[in-house]
Amino acid sequence: MSAVLRVEDLGVALPRGGRGVPIVEGLNLTINAGEMLALVGESGSGKTIAALSLMRLLPPGATLTGNIWLGGQNLARLPESALRRVRGRETGMVFQSPLAALNPSRTVASQIAEAWRVHNGGGKNTARVLELLGEVGIPNAAARLEDYPHQFSGGQRQRVLLAMALACSPKLLIADEPTSGLDPLIARQIMELIARLRRELNMAVLFVTHDLSVVEAHADAVQVLYAGKSVEWGRAKQFFAHPRHPYSAALLGSIARLGQVRLHSIPGSLPEPESRPPGCRFAPRCAFRQPDCAASFPPPSPCGPTAAACFYPRPMQNHEASVEAFSTAPPRTFPPQLQVRNLTVRYKGKSGWRRAAAAPPSLSDASFALGRGECLGVVGESGSGKSTLGRAVLQMLPYEGQVLLEDTDLATLRGAAGRARRRRLQLVFQDPRESMNPRLRIGEIIAEPLRLQGQLSQAQLRENVETLLRRVGLNGKRCSAAL
Ligand SMILES: Nc1ncnc2c1ncn2[C@@H]1O[C@H](COP(=O)(O)OP(=O)(O)OP(=O)(O)O)[C@@H](O)[C@H]1O
Ligand code: SF4
Ligand SMILES: [Mg+2]
Repeated sequence: MSAVLRVEDLGVALPRGGRGVPIVEGLNLTINAGEMLALVGESGSGKTIAALSLMRLLPPGATLTGNIWLGGQNLARLPESALRRVRGRETGMVFQSPLAALNPSRTVASQIAEAWRVHNGGGKNTARVLELLGEVGIPNAAARLEDYPHQFSGGQRQRVLLAMALACSPKLLIADEPTSGLDPLIARQIMELIARLRRELNMAVLFVTHDLSVVEAHADAVQVLYAGKSVEWGRAKQFFAHPRHPYSAALLGSIARLGQVRLHSIPGSLPEPESRPPGCRFAPRCAFRQPDCAASFPPPSPCGPTAAACFYPRPMQNHEASVEAFSTAPPRTFPPQLQVRNLTVRYKGKSGWRRAAAAPPSLSDASFALGRGECLGVVGESGSGKSTLGRAVLQMLPYEGQVLLEDTDLATLRGAAGRARRRRLQLVFQDPRESMNPRLRIGEIIAEPLRLQGQLSQAQLRENVETLLRRVGLNGKRCSAAL
């Protein structure tokens, strides 16, 4: 089989706090034509930076070392002008957030046509656009040529991005978490679509994900990244059957798989690039660590079609390496904090709110009670009303029914009393990139609502920001430094 992509000893350092900090180190990988390699690892392990570095799409000030062979060209050494011809023509990319990647003010068809025109020249090629939309499974494509991105569903937008990436039949497709944020059914369809297209087009695919369950059925090879370094790599079949690195086993133990009775978590958190431990980087979280594990980084230990960077590798059960199982908490006896009674929401139609009562409800008759410390899972297919329920509870939408917080009906509160009570209900949105102002630093974004309360000194503010960030596993000191 011929290698489409061969990466040798790839290293990326990014400027942080006035110096270059290594993010990815010594990465080696090969993807053959028609094969899919899954690059996996938990959030912050360096997957996106590694994927972006392959196309040299790194932030300003980044340094890149090593070789990136695409066919006979070393992309790491190619001048920018030549690289521009490679991007889009020989390689295609799809990212996690299709809405952010598409221009909201232009029709989807014109954006696909442009992706085609940039590399092939010529005029507007409607036939090719229709062909591409058909290939990625957009039904009734001819009727959607005038539609804008917001008129497509999340799964359809991801298909549109794929159509753009495929416009020039690339040899290599880089897909960075293209299915996260989609409901499991749609995610599976997108995954199957990518798998089918790579077979039909004999394309090499680098699939980046933190969720091994997404790629289990389709990947030919797997590479596990931990704190910027590969810890296990090789053929997918053997990897999924017998992971040999404790981190891989722990990752597999944390995902829902057929026959898995309990899910397990990995204790502790990923080290920040500035404070990676000496020796084996996984040692502080590893259930099997020995005193010598901290002495040096473990060399690869090959075993048939896989290899693991561990001093004590062996075939493991999936969850063997994770020590904490998700607890099944005993039923609570606290009185309910939040009560939702017969909640019904009707969105206004084209004719306005006066006609809203006649419109069919997007959510009807939802009722539940939630006690202190309890967590309620609201599940359902795309479009079933999950977000509508959340927004109505938060008083962001008009509704019928009642929302009671500690026995107070939130709809009856006005002015300062309403604002004070609503402060106690908070929301985390689906897409963090769309919820944060890119011009503000993380520390400032978190400090802003605390400042609005107006009672904290600068030192208290910094301390609160640090504590909040530490609670969610981030380096609080780094983010609060600019305050
Ligand atoms: N532009 C940047 N400047 C400085 N550091 C960055 C930048 N982008 C990412 N990093 C850092 O690089 C490290 C790896 O980030 P990366 O986005 O590659 O992780 P990831 O594995 O893709 O995580 P996720 O699963 O959350 O997408 C993190 O510590 C992150 O804070
Ligand atoms: S080298 Fe040691 S600490 Fe690291 S994963 Fe292997 S057993 Fe665990
Ligand atoms: Mg990422």
